[in-house]
Amino acid sequence: MKLPALKIRNLETKYPVIQAGMGVRIGMAELSSAVVNCGGFGTIASVGIGDVERGKIRFVEECNENFALELKKARELCGGKKPLGVNVMVALSNYEEIIRTAVAGGVDFIISGAGLPLPLPEYVGDADIALIPVISSGRAFEVVVKTWLRKYNRKPDAVIVEGPKCGGHLGFTMEMIEHPETCSMEILRKEIQDVIARYNLEGLPMIAAEEVACRADIERFLRMGYDGVQIGTYFITTEEAGIDRRSKQVFVDAKAEDVVVIKSPVGLPVRVLKSPLVQRVLTGEREKFTCPYRCLRSCNPAKSLFCIAKALLATWRGDTDNGLYMVGCNIEAVRKIYPVKEFFDSLDRE
Ligand SMILES: Cc1cc2nc3c(=O)[nH]c(=O)nc-3n(C[C@H](O)[C@H](O)[C@H](O)COP(=O)(O)O)c2cc1C
Repeated sequence: MKLPALKIRNLETKYPVIQAGMGVRIGMAELSSAVVNCGGFGTIASVGIGDVERGKIRFVEECNENFALELKKARELCGGKKPLGVNVMVALSNYEEIIRTAVAGGVDFIISGAGLPLPLPEYVGDADIALIPVISSGRAFEVVVKTWLRKYNRKPDAVIVEGPKCGGHLGFTMEMIEHPETCSMEILRKEIQDVIARYNLEGLPMIAAEEVACRADIERFLRMGYDGVQIGTYFITTEEAGIDRRSKQVFVDAKAEDVVVIKSPVGLPVRVLKSPLVQRVLTGEREKFTCPYRCLRSCNPAKSLFCIAKALLATWRGDTDNGLYMVGCNIEAVRKIYPVKEFFDSLDRE
């Protein structure tokens, strides 16, 4: 099968691949620009890139400034090549500010999930930016489509469908995650297709996000009727990913039985490795932390067993005792630290 180009709004890439936004500081300028330069959609993760450890003072401004600098750096590394975008989680307390900074910085696309991105078109205005919601059910997609059409006369430019086996936060109940056959990518595709037909959105690109690590995985989703894929887990251990090498090695060494789903302070289930931190959390022990900046709208620091920002920053630093290792079910496909180009070159081999 010849891999088709991926067209979203006025953007087009050689490969039907979007690099998933991965926070904290995994998908930064190096990773996103490497993907763009190889012929995919490169995505900067906007979460946790302010100097959050310095505390509450100027949290919003720090995040905006650092994100704008990261975007500028990525643009330079891309040498003018497109499409370079950003992933912004709805759950962030500075959601609006980051979107407005992304618009001012001239991103090509915005991917937004971890909640329903209902006000996104308002913050983007008439800027020529592709808007791509992330959803995990036809019902959620319909709410987004209906709201955007009614309030802003705006259609999504594509939709990312996250399945129950993917990495990071999951838009499913624990029960559904235990029975992934009830919400498989095939079932979700039909639900989304139904909304596309009812709202006259024919041609809207559907992107599958779940367990993609090679050409055969991409072909499987194309055959199912998707137009492209979003890849998270398989890009975590690239040379260009922003986290410390010791943390990359944790992912390389992990086995399928090390993967668990726990409740995240974000308010959603999250798939992670059973790291020392997670083992402590699973016993009900509360980590010592104070919350100086309230980075998440949905987090109640008094009730959370751990601070997810602190834990993901520990991963970034390579502090394996205190790090949180978000991961998808296909962790065993990740067996080495490798350059992004190696993955894209492999797509050219039939
Ligand atoms: C380490 C890690 C960090 C992630 N960070 C984010 C994030 O900041 N925002 C977001 O919307 N999704 C995030 N995700 C979810 C991904 O964007 C993506 O949809 C998912 O990982 C795709 O499935 P895969 O991991 O099976 O390839 C993250 C996933 C992982 C594994």
